[in-house]
Amino acid sequence: MQAKVGVGWADFRASPDQEVRGFVGLNLLYATLVSHNMDEAAEIVSEHEIRKYDRSNILGDYRRWPALAQEALEREASAVDFSDINHVVLCGMGGSAASCDVVREWLDDVDVVVVKDYHLPKWAGGRDLVIAVTYSGNTEETLSCYSEALKRGMPLVTISSGGTIEVSSRKRGVPHNKVSSGLAPRAAFPLLFYTLVEVLRKMDIVCSRRFEEAKSSAKMLDFYSRRIFPEVPLKENISKQVASFIYQEIPKVYGSERIRCAVERFRRMISENGKWHAMSDVLPELCHNEIVSYIIGNPRLRIILMRTKSDPLEISKRFDIVKEIFLKSQHKVMELMPEGSSLLDFIISYFYFLDVATVYLAIKNRQEPAKTENIDYLKERLGRELNYVSKLSL
Ligand code: PA5
Repeated sequence: MQAKVGVGWADFRASPDQEVRGFVGLNLLYATLVSHNMDEAAEIVSEHEIRKYDRSNILGDYRRWPALAQEALEREASAVDFSDINHVVLCGMGGSAASCDVVREWLDDVDVVVVKDYHLPKWAGGRDLVIAVTYSGNTEETLSCYSEALKRGMPLVTISSGGTIEVSSRKRGVPHNKVSSGLAPRAAFPLLFYTLVEVLRKMDIVCSRRFEEAKSSAKMLDFYSRRIFPEVPLKENISKQVASFIYQEIPKVYGSERIRCAVERFRRMISENGKWHAMSDVLPELCHNEIVSYIIGNPRLRIILMRTKSDPLEISKRFDIVKEIFLKSQHKVMELMPEGSSLLDFIISYFYFLDVATVYLAIKNRQEPAKTENIDYLKERLGRELNYVSKLSL
């Protein structure tokens, strides 16, 4: 596999000082577009800055992603002995839900529904499998769905690092898959995702071809783990470059519907890790509304196009045309094209190098990436004022 991280910068003559270039090495254009940020970018990821702001060492957790994927793939899953499943209903919130989103987009030949709410769909019943994923094991929306699945007598499996869902699963005889604890839920993604894959494989919902695909996608983590961490300089480090591009500006993230989970993950991680605002949309839908706004130039916008080698012609043509429109209206564009050969490879690659980019963004913003003050506050107040979980039969 090549070391190229597949980035091209604006390759359209948008203004007299932006040269026309193809999908070339990013560095020349990079320097043209964001030269004002370069020194700062180099400085902000100094060891000192990392130590100062990444107090709980979330970067260390991200470094472990290849090993966490292996850990999950090697552990035998607990599942239910039930064939003839109708739908797969995956329940989870936030970082835990991301693993469910990836399964839904990847398994496009299986009826997968993701529930990020308190209640299961009304139609869900005895032949629909529920898998409740909550890293902490204590998220009330997921516990609520779990309790409804118990009530409806549905086939049920749980995944957590501990918490109430583990205790209840043991008490109720629900197969529980315990993953290692001590990570931020979003940084536990490989543990949760590959455990989900293992559960589905055990139940023959993931066939052997798909399982091979999953195993091979884990290799993308190895590939990027050697290219995105602080010791790799900015000019060769795609994560640092992305962080530098969006730092203190307004990121707009666009990708195709087929990788919606990666587009949304990036937007959410800009907020959750990076403590910054971001917007996102997907093609082709954005070509029918969002695109209209690109008539007035906004110098603060930083557009990131998340492309893949598997984009069909009708989508890649749309990318080309919308990029022209962005550039004509004087906007700055960064195009990404990850390594890999399957849709899952691209999704996993995007998750990895863009998550790490948002850790750099946090550090540049002088914030602790792992901290989630507002989430903690909200959970604590809800617990104190409503105590929803105490009303559930668990
Ligand atoms: O990443 C995070 O910390 C959050 O998005 C959590 O994942 C979310 O609040 C749900 O918690 P849990 O994953 O423990 O169910």
